Amino acid sequence: MISQDYLLELHQRSDIVELVSSYVQLRHRGRTYTGLCPFHSEKSPSFVVYPENQSFYCFGCGAGGDAITFVKQINNVDYIEAVKLLAARAGLPLPDERDDTGKLKSRILAMNKETARFYYESLNTEAGLAARRYLRGRALSDATIRRFGLGFSPDGYSATSDYLRRRGYTEEEMLAGGIVKRSQRGGVYDFFHGRVMFPIFDLRGNVIAFGGRRMGDEGGPKYLNSGDTPVFKKSRNMFAMNIAKKSTSRRYILCEGYMDAIAMHQAGFDTAVAPLGTAFTPEQAKLLSTYADELVLSYDSDEAGQKATKRAISLLASEPMKISVLKIPDAKDPDEFIRKFGAERFRMLLDGSDNAIEYELSRARDKYDITRPDGIVGYIKDAIEVLAGRCTPTERDVYAGRIAEETNVTKAALLNQLETRLKQKYRKAEKDRQKELLSEGQISRIKVPYSQGGDKAKGVANAEYQLMAAAIKDPQHLVRVCERLSPERFITPQMAEVFRVLKEVHEAGLPAELATVSHQLSDEARTALTRSLADNYDIRFTDADLDFYFERIEESVPKSSKAAEMSAQELAAYMQQLKAKKQ
Ligand code: GTP
Ligand code: MN
Repeated sequence: MISQDYLLELHQRSDIVELVSSYVQLRHRGRTYTGLCPFHSEKSPSFVVYPENQSFYCFGCGAGGDAITFVKQINNVDYIEAVKLLAARAGLPLPDERDDTGKLKSRILAMNKETARFYYESLNTEAGLAARRYLRGRALSDATIRRFGLGFSPDGYSATSDYLRRRGYTEEEMLAGGIVKRSQRGGVYDFFHGRVMFPIFDLRGNVIAFGGRRMGDEGGPKYLNSGDTPVFKKSRNMFAMNIAKKSTSRRYILCEGYMDAIAMHQAGFDTAVAPLGTAFTPEQAKLLSTYADELVLSYDSDEAGQKATKRAISLLASEPMKISVLKIPDAKDPDEFIRKFGAERFRMLLDGSDNAIEYELSRARDKYDITRPDGIVGYIKDAIEVLAGRCTPTERDVYAGRIAEETNVTKAALLNQLETRLKQKYRKAEKDRQKELLSEGQISRIKVPYSQGGDKAKGVANAEYQLMAAAIKDPQHLVRVCERLSPERFITPQMAEVFRVLKEVHEAGLPAELATVSHQLSDEARTALTRSLADNYDIRFTDADLDFYFERIEESVPKSSKAAEMSAQELAAYMQQLKAKKQ
């Protein structure tokens, strides 16, 4: 556990507006700042930062919390990591780590670093000769090999683990880090052996995983990749991102394979990145859009690559980046193209890359025979769909003009059809939004178990929700709430949790603010609390407000729980009373 004092100091030294604005363009609006939410895709801003209580909340997706929560979510790191990152930003020395998982993680990171060094050094041993030859055969220079820390995992089943054991790492640590696997006999063996190794780095330069390529045609799958470990989630990281983020260019290039990315870097394109042996994920799309203004998709030219391109385009549709697609002629992938035609030709290709709309339109055109009327109809239908998807009005106009020329249909007719389609889409989106609002009104977001009073409980839930905002905004109110109620009495689990933590912090003599409570809350409770604060940002609760909430809560104590609090005699008397009433 990190001490409360440390957290308070960390919060005092950090400013959430300054923090958030290095990721999100914020606009001043009265006492708050608003911007486009970095945690979901949106066109109009529903993300709000509250400097007074140093919190943020998105009315669109419900993400919310304090500075640490923000760092955690924006960097996809855990709590401890987030504290460290924020501390580094604030120039605060790190808290010492007594936390167990934190300890294991740092052991794994240290082990990975040593492993990467071991692989790298193994390249220069006799056993590494074949690997050296392989890399040379793929036209990689020594500088590139060094830059990416490429290496070789020696053959056999224990070279790596023997080395690590001598260095003081335990079998458990190696298993947890994915360096070894358990064999059927119960021992362990090196997961990577006899392969060319590609270390995978996170944004801070830690080695978090490995990919290993076999050198010949035999010896298992072409690539082996580390599975997820406590320090690695493949869906959330990208190969070469640690190098790309240092580039001055905001135009990133997304390719399929490690080798493609490396070849591009060697050719001078230092923003090339690749997924980690799996299909491109929404998290990766988000990660990229944090750093890139523009993304060029540069997948393999085969059928699979084109499919992957299409999939990536749809995942990227809502990210605020300009997307374009590179067509690679006469080569199966960027690596091969650069080797065949050189870096200069590749740059020309890049600069002329089709934008995503053109790419999709040309795919639609290829699907139909537009010398025939039915072909034209089909093409226009698809094309309208493309244009209704992600176009600015200017783009619509330009492309409608071009399609008109191709098909001999008037531009006016096309624009008309497009307009109808856009309206349809808008109506549907609006309907969906309404539906969502109905099913998730403010209060029904608070999950009240039916057993505890159903609809009537909503008023109580609301009172609890308001009370917690009041308590955190004004210490006097917290004192009153503590005197009058106990957390056990609350019916909403999230607010009960909030209350419990507020009370503990208060009793420990610490100020009860987001900084001191937020990290002790579950994600649900923290979100609920920040939402409540956001909802009540402009409200100054009075004592009368509090009385009103108290009454609501006290009036509706469920009968069952009243019964549970009674002694046996009291209960008997109470039952008598009820019977008497019935008669
Ligand atoms: P080479 O040029 O043949 O070395 O590979 P590449 O970088 O061009 O990769 P390719 O297009 O063949 O595959 C793209 C990516 O998919 C690779 O970088 C790996 O991350 C992953 N991949 C390829 N083959 C395998 C495999 O057999 N198993 C796994 N798990 N991943 C693979
Ligand atoms: Mn390749």
